Amino acid sequence: MRSGVFWANGRWRQWADFMRGGDGEGGWVALLPVERLNPTETGTFVSVPGYELAIFRVADTLIVTDNACPHAHGNLAGGVVRGSIVACPWHQWQFDLRTAACVHNASVRLRSYEARVRDGVVYARLRGVRGADGV
Ligand code: FES
Repeated sequence: MRSGVFWANGRWRQWADFMRGGDGEGGWVALLPVERLNPTETGTFVSVPGYELAIFRVADTLIVTDNACPHAHGNLAGGVVRGSIVACPWHQWQFDLRTAACVHNASVRLRSYEARVRDGVVYARLRGVRGADGV
């Protein structure tokens, strides 16, 4: 489990407090402070117990997916985002982050998760998978 403290929303916070169930309900798990999101056109990699994730910005929306590309486990967080399309840096398969579908083959999908920001911290709901189950 991640340990230590981080600065968010004007005060120091304990990672352990956030990791104990995020807001305590519904599978929400704290990922990282908003200010640590990659400001460029790539995603942000984050690891929490049991998950390696990529966080993307599409307009004003945060989208969280598994970091491993469904083709051959490339590092999706390192892919370049244009509009809502991320291109995997390994073999350039492209995925529409709004739908989680592969641009070239709609039967291939990213596993994505609900995301939200609370008190300057990005959370993902790691139960209730979007994309893989069509939600
Ligand atoms: S690993 Fe992503 S396109 Fe091949």
